[in-house]
Amino acid sequence: MTGARHLYVHLPFCAHRCGYCDFVTVVGRGDRHGAYVDALLRELELERGVLAAELETVFLGGGTPTFTALPELVRLLEALPRASEVTVEANPETVTPELAHALREAGVSRVSLGAQTFRPELLRVLERVAGPDDVRRAVQHLRAAGFDNISLDLVYGIPGQTPSDLAADLDDALALEPEHLSCYELEAKPGTRFTHAFGEELGRQADAMEDYFERVVATLTGAGYRWYETANFCRVDGVRDLRAQHNLGYWLGHDYLGIGIGAVSTSSNRRWRNAPKLVRYLEALAAGRAPEREHERLDGDVRARERVMLGLRLDEPLPLADVRHALDPVGLARVEALGLAEESGGTLSLTQRGRFLGGGVTAELLA
Ligand SMILES: C[S@@+](CC[C@H](N)C(=O)[O-])C[C@H]1O[C@@H](n2cnc3c(N)ncnc32)[C@H](O)[C@@H]1O
Ligand code: SF4
Repeated sequence: MTGARHLYVHLPFCAHRCGYCDFVTVVGRGDRHGAYVDALLRELELERGVLAAELETVFLGGGTPTFTALPELVRLLEALPRASEVTVEANPETVTPELAHALREAGVSRVSLGAQTFRPELLRVLERVAGPDDVRRAVQHLRAAGFDNISLDLVYGIPGQTPSDLAADLDDALALEPEHLSCYELEAKPGTRFTHAFGEELGRQADAMEDYFERVVATLTGAGYRWYETANFCRVDGVRDLRAQHNLGYWLGHDYLGIGIGAVSTSSNRRWRNAPKLVRYLEALAAGRAPEREHERLDGDVRARERVMLGLRLDEPLPLADVRHALDPVGLARVEALGLAEESGGTLSLTQRGRFLGGGVTAELLA
């Protein structure tokens, strides 16, 4: 296979910076949205050789891609290469009927909505702009525009959240019948306002999180969703594969091109990360230069270790032929004896218990 089949496009603009977020974001700057789209398209032109002739997925992530001035967002979408899955991340309050139709007409096939929680008091803790009804309205507008692949993001472990709050969030999310759900444990990201205010409380409730995780998995699998990745669930409809194909590409260790500030790319034995500064990014690309980047060489060992760490997050067995040298045979025997992993027919899988313990088990397995 020649060339990456996955393209990530970073749109950093947000109306407001949520206290818990450490993604590469820029508040406001409506005056720079057009220049940023120009820069993205120049970067794409410079890196075109990294991409395959045909793409499988395009993912516009943020930031809040749908906060980008709509004509600029549409101009960008129309200029990007076609792909079988084109996902746009959206914040609920930005989804109007006009936006939903514009995305659909510009070839978007999937929308990932950041709901986070449906409890108003917990949304306030997260400093979210959207209320629970904004999430419901956003789903209605997207359905009316013809979207048949909608994902909702939820977080759990919000300070003050009780088990019944979590159960109510899952019920509220399921009532919207999304094709896909991502449920993340809320992380205290170093240096954020949120960690300053709530870091200690999150530390105290860490023990409860395993129980919350199990409740999430039990509820969503009980409702018929496939727990296909540690934090990701999809409906099983017998015809379509509703897993997030773009993210699946990362978890399977495929190459990808990322454009925009802070974006990461991996191409055979190289990885590079664009610097996060908006103005310098715009200046470099306006002058026809690649933006400032950090480069890393990826040797076979690093790729094999990553392949194990990411591949074991999935519910499909990991073929061992190319990654065997990254495993510690003693660690493998130990986790097998503990009933956390199973080797069979040249593949390795985590058991249900192993999947709940996740990263800790993978760390034991690596040489
Ligand atoms: C790129 S982010 C933001 C997308 C969108 N701007 C939003 O806020 O809804 C994608 C997802 O990451 C998750 N996320 C962000 N910060 C997190 C944190 N500190 N811990 C856990 N999940 C987080 C949220 O569920 C969020 O929807
Ligand atoms: S959570 Fe989303 S909306 Fe909030 S600052 Fe981060 S990217 Fe922007």
